Amino acid sequence: MKSKSEKISAEYSKAIKENKNIVSATGGAKFADYSVHELENLPEGMTDNSFGCGNPLATSSVKEGDVVLDLGCGTGLDLLLAAEKVGAEGLVIGIDMNEDMLNKAQKNIDKSGFKNIELRKGLIENLPIDSEYIDWVISNCVINLSSDKEKAFTEIARVLKPNGQMLVSDIVSENMPRWVKRSGILVAACAGGTISEQHYLQGLKNAGLTDCSVVARQYYEPLQLASAVIDLLPPFLTKLSCCGKSIVERLLIKIASPIAKNLWSAKFAGKLG
Ligand SMILES: C[S@@+](CC[C@H](N)C(=O)[O-])C[C@H]1O[C@@H](n2cnc3c(N)ncnc32)[C@H](O)[C@@H]1O
Repeated sequence: MKSKSEKISAEYSKAIKENKNIVSATGGAKFADYSVHELENLPEGMTDNSFGCGNPLATSSVKEGDVVLDLGCGTGLDLLLAAEKVGAEGLVIGIDMNEDMLNKAQKNIDKSGFKNIELRKGLIENLPIDSEYIDWVISNCVINLSSDKEKAFTEIARVLKPNGQMLVSDIVSENMPRWVKRSGILVAACAGGTISEQHYLQGLKNAGLTDCSVVARQYYEPLQLASAVIDLLPPFLTKLSCCGKSIVERLLIKIASPIAKNLWSAKFAGKLG
């Protein structure tokens, strides 16, 4: 029987192979935190398979020569932005459990021409990284997917150098309906496995991080959540209409309304020591 991580990984492989964005809680709002300049300088097609919920580097002070670690790097958008910041003297390491993601990331890195990015296959709960090696840990919409978040937080603290810092964008929730938490597809879509901001901050503190805070938030409209699902439905279904309005769209917005109220993206900051 497949583990929870393997099931999540299979959903992402499917999305990559079919060149689709997975049904994602972040819908069409996922690039809102990036500047036009950052997005227009990416290799062609780079944003087609990105699944983030913020831009962890947007408020960072990553500098030349730093070593940056991206947890759950996916196809590599944030790796490329970090590589620009750390320059030739620095290093960016991307970790992901999914081989298809890493293959796509490598293609994007090759297209970009950056030579300061290294990819490693592994789990965020058991990082293939030496202790005290990293200046900045970043991550974009990944820790919510972990079934052992305490371990992931402990690993962040282990790999950071003294005074190293972290900036993590992730989906959080309050009082998420139980049916959302139980749905495999909604866990893979970054909604079902979410915890509250308070639990997140406590987890980081328990792991030994200090100055933990939420530095930015992004909220979603029911239509943004619903639109991510609508895009994946067969066209004949979405064309069914009544009184000039799509029946499926109205139904999905109704379902998404209680979720949208309780779910948002938060950017967490913290440091070691
Ligand atoms: C929502 S996507 C985000 C990808 C990327 N950060 C982005 O912004 O596009 C989640 C990624 O985390 C990876 N992932 C999920 N759980 C993981 C785990 N426990 N260990 C390592 N990678 C994981 C998935 O394979 C996927 O590539």
